[in-house]
Parts: sequence; C-alpha cells; structure tokens
Amino acid sequence: MSFPAERPRRLRSSEGLRRLVRETALSTDDLVMPLFVETGSAKSEPIPSMPGQFRFSADTVAAECAELYELGIPAVILFGIPERKDAEGSEAWREDGVVQTAIREIKKKAPDLVVMADVCLCEYTDHGHCGVVEDGRVLNDPTLDLLARTSVSLARAGADVVAPSDMMDGRVRRIRAALDEAGFSDTVILSYAVKYASAFYGPFRDAAGSAPSFGDRRSYQMDPPNSDEGLREARLDIEEGADIIMVKPALPYLDVLRRVKDEFARPTAAYCVSGEYSMIKAACERGWLDERRVVMEALTSVRRAGADFVLTYFAKDIAKWLGGK
Ligand code: PBG
Repeated sequence: MSFPAERPRRLRSSEGLRRLVRETALSTDDLVMPLFVETGSAKSEPIPSMPGQFRFSADTVAAECAELYELGIPAVILFGIPERKDAEGSEAWREDGVVQTAIREIKKKAPDLVVMADVCLCEYTDHGHCGVVEDGRVLNDPTLDLLARTSVSLARAGADVVAPSDMMDGRVRRIRAALDEAGFSDTVILSYAVKYASAFYGPFRDAAGSAPSFGDRRSYQMDPPNSDEGLREARLDIEEGADIIMVKPALPYLDVLRRVKDEFARPTAAYCVSGEYSMIKAACERGWLDERRVVMEALTSVRRAGADFVLTYFAKDIAKWLGGK
C-alpha cells in the first residue's frame, strides 16, 4: 500500500487514535528512584550540581521512601556517603554502615517498597577507586571478596536487590555464591553489566564525593565506542547469575540497550545518570526546554529502546505527573 491509499497522518488525527496505536508507555511501574544517604539525622542537604536532589540521613530517607511508595514508585536504589573512608572501603560492609542503617529505617516506614543497594567501593575508599589499589593499579581478584562481603551485609540489613556497579570481572558469580551461602538465595542481583567510563557521572561524583583521587576509571569501566563488548559483558553476567542486567548511562547508549534486549530477552534496566539529569535540569532552568515534555520524551525513548525499567532522578516528578497510583 502506498499514497494515496496509505496516509500515515490518518492515525495521528486525534488524541484518541494516537492513544490506541501508541506502542510504548512510560508508567510509574517502570521507575526506580536513586537516593543518597549520609550519617546523622534530620538531614536533607541540596546537591548543588543536581538541582532538586538531596543528601538524606536514615530518618529523612525513610520518610522520603514512604512518600515515593505512596506515589506508586515500586523501588529505590541507595548510595551511601560514609563519614570515614579508608584504603579498602571497610565502611561499605559494616553492620551499622550508612546504607545498612538506612535500609532498616526504610523497611519500618515502607515495608513493601523494593530496596536496591548499589554495591561499590568508590564512595568508601580514600582513593575513590572501585577496587583495591596497589602501585597505582586497581586489582580485580582481591576486590571480589570485599564486594561479596558488602553484598551479604546489605542483604542482612534487608536489601531486596544488590546492584554491583564496580565492573570487576567475576563479581556476580562471587556475590551470588556468598549470598547463597549466607542464606540469601532470594536476594536479587541487578548487575551494572554494561557500564561505560562516562563523563556523565560528574554530578554524582560531586554528590557522593567519589571522584578518583588519581587517574580515571577507564581500566575497568567500558570504552564508550564499544557495543559488541557490551554483549559479551552482559552474557558473562547472565552466566554468572545476574537476575537483571543494566546498561548505563541510558540516552547516549540506546543502541546498546536495544542490542542487549534483543540478544538476551532478559529483564533489562537502564540508568539515566546524574549528568543526563543535570543537563536537562540546567536547560529547563534557563527556560530553553519544557521540562515535563522533555523528560517524558527522553524517558519514553529509554523504554522504547528496550528497558523494562529505568533508574532516574526524575522518578518522583514523573510519578506526580502521571497522577500517583
Ligand atoms: C559507583 C556508581 C557511580 C554511579 C552509580 N554507581 C559512579 C561512578 O561509577 O563513578 C553513577 C550514577 C550517576 O551518575 O547518576 N561506582
């Protein structure tokens, strides 16, 4: 069929028709809200490079989570900012660590909210790298036990999902084995399987104080031009026991997301990271873009590219726009 019998505009001629033939929907069900927690109480400190985002303490993050749950958001992911950092990042696996404490408070206030905990050492190490450092190099194998220990401690605190974001090889297998051995065979692993060495993490590193003190993350996070390698990374994590695989960042890597979803047909997430948030925010603050329309368009594109759900700092705003539960 071709013109004049076929007129694609016919199905665009009313909102009712557009709604009927719409292929992708972004729903509150698809959103995970990232939250930063630090020690102390009654805190909600604005993060300058991420307007509208805050550093919470355990009590205020629990109240925030109750609100997010009421808005219909199914899950949050937590990042910790510890008071003390050391070479190994030992605050990451302390029983009364900053995230462990927050999880216990959240579970009291919002027991049915899915709590995900990011597993990485960079917020906890004094050098800011995601693993053990020796002679200026980030070592893979000695890091695995620390990640496994951290994961078990987060599961023990009540995390439903652990999300390793370090990009060490073999960590999913090690974490799965440690969780199972500790009796947490139902704890879900969401792996940052395809995580790029991206410049879009800048505002997060300000927020979490986790910028590396020397060098960069290019010896462990992926090289942005590569996409076949992303499939290999995803395959390895699935073989090692990842329940959900993630591509990160989202918008600059929609092609990779589509390939990963098509190739593996697994539950797949995408992380719309801090820089993606802040660049939209900055343009909207200047009145250059219409925030609500741009955010809905951008996040819908992530779903269209194959993400089952999206980690986004816009989650709360979107849930409000979509009208709650
Ligand atoms: C920890 C981690 C980072 C992000 C999520 N987990 C920072 C990094 O890898 O440097 C970035 C999230 C964001 O930018 O929103 N490794």
